[in-house]
Amino acid sequence: MNFSLRLGLVIGVVAAFGGAIAYLSAGDQGLAAAHKTRWESSVQCKSCHEDVYAEWTGSHHQIAFTNPEVRKLSDDFRKEECMDCHLPRPLVITGFGSRTLPRRTHFDEGISCISCHLGPDGGLLARNDRPEVPCAPKRSTDFLAVKSCESCHNQHWTTDQWRASPYAAQGTDCASCHMPEVTRVRKDGSKRMGRGHVFHGSHDVATLKKAGKFEVARAGSEVALTLTNTGAGHNYPTEERHRAVDMLYRFVTADQETGGEWTLAYRFRMPYRDESTPVGPGADVQENTQLPAFATKTVNVPIPAGAVAVETRLWYRLTPFCGDDSPLSTLLEERRVDL
Ligand code: HEC
Ligand code: HEC
Ligand code: HEC
Ligand code: HEC
Ligand code: HEC
Repeated sequence: MNFSLRLGLVIGVVAAFGGAIAYLSAGDQGLAAAHKTRWESSVQCKSCHEDVYAEWTGSHHQIAFTNPEVRKLSDDFRKEECMDCHLPRPLVITGFGSRTLPRRTHFDEGISCISCHLGPDGGLLARNDRPEVPCAPKRSTDFLAVKSCESCHNQHWTTDQWRASPYAAQGTDCASCHMPEVTRVRKDGSKRMGRGHVFHGSHDVATLKKAGKFEVARAGSEVALTLTNTGAGHNYPTEERHRAVDMLYRFVTADQETGGEWTLAYRFRMPYRDESTPVGPGADVQENTQLPAFATKTVNVPIPAGAVAVETRLWYRLTPFCGDDSPLSTLLEERRVDL
């Protein structure tokens, strides 16, 4: 990074801190003048937005600080830098798209309603200006844009992957897929459109099944195993470097009911920075084998003498170090093709 850019960043961070301090020290009085409520906790939204609150409860956003997987890897958050995104202060403090700062309150609220919805003046942000409703949210295009996910979700380049995909040009943003439209019922029984707040990802089988199309076909003296990214708006599998998608096969001979040991045909995964062996067969050391949006990968396997069928499986793994019977592995597809 050159000096002037670094200086610019320092000034930017200082300015953001200054803004945050000015905002925080405005105190109850200043805020009370502008708004009746000082928004600090998701619980404040619960009574009026029961559905949204229920969807968020138990989501990976809500559990971000209590998640046992995260506590283990962060050494119970003794690695303090992990709090930046897992227990963040509102996005607006550093600005939508910029890295968040850690907070020291509301530990069971992880990424809370306030993290995303708080506005620069202490009020709330939304799609529409609604001065007539009790929480009086104001329209913000920053809040609606991909920048509101980017602060935390570009650590492993998910946002960049999306920008490089046809989805970006098309205007199919993160919320289009991860916040599906739902029907909300008002207190008076009338209905309106809402957006889901569960944020399904790799812990949801239905979401994983939407990501890819798995095909198996005979191609002369070989079997072709093909995976196409048909439904993920970024690389598949995206995010954490330890997420992996595996294509496996085994051949069956006439005297067998099923084949023997499974063989890994290909592993789709982003390697760790210091990994000195390829992520799987057919890959180079440090090669990122994730499948970009709409990309296809085919692996051909020669058919051995005497084979009458091939059995194939597509697995999603939360970490590459787990076996087929681990709860961290999900079987997405299983196919047998007679040869
Ligand atoms: C006292 C009740 C009440 C509380 C508390 C409340 N809201 Fe609301 N909010 C409403 C009502 C009523 C609407 C209008 C719903 C409709 O369209 O009929 C609304 C609408 C919204 C909208 C949608 C605006 C749009 O684009 O149309 C957002 C976003 C929102 N609230 C966020 C929040 C958040 C976040 C909190 C907590 C920090 C919160 N609200 C607390 C009553 C409340
Ligand atoms: C820049 C923001 C950011 C920082 C800093 C950060 N994380 Fe995360 N973390 C995320 C996001 C975003 C996800 C969700 C993506 C995913 O699930 O792949 C995540 C997911 C995780 C998960 C997966 C949880 C699960 O249930 O599968 C673990 C574990 C984790 N982080 C550990 C850590 C640790 C340990 C640190 C500190 C060394 C850390 N994170 C720092 C943003 C961050
Ligand atoms: C303040 C940081 C932050 C912001 C902003 C944020 N996320 Fe997350 N998100 C996280 C973290 C951290 C996790 C993982 C927490 C865990 O598993 O413990 C996560 C998890 C997820 C997951 C995966 C859930 C799973 O099952 O693994 C999805 C999908 C997701 N976020 C989508 C979004 C989208 C879309 C946006 C923008 C509208 C967004 N997030 C905004 C930090 C953030
Ligand atoms: C066209 C639909 C689509 C779009 C657009 C999309 N996603 Fe996804 N996303 C998926 C699917 C399908 C998966 C499951 C496959 C995977 O993990 O790659 C997924 C998975 C994820 C996960 C889970 C990763 C994990 O390890 O748990 C996160 C986080 C995520 N997306 C964030 C985002 C963000 C941020 C954006 C916008 C920059 C975005 N997504 C845009 C469909 C989409
Ligand atoms: C990760 C960021 C994020 C978190 C956390 C979050 N929201 Fe939202 N919320 C959004 C975005 C983005 C939209 C706008 C979606 C749109 O209209 O396109 C939205 C829309 C809404 C709406 C209007 C649509 C609807 O379904 O009624 C309400 C109300 C709302 N949020 C309330 C809440 C409440 C209450 C919480 C906490 C329980 C919460 N939000 C947590 C990002 C978030």
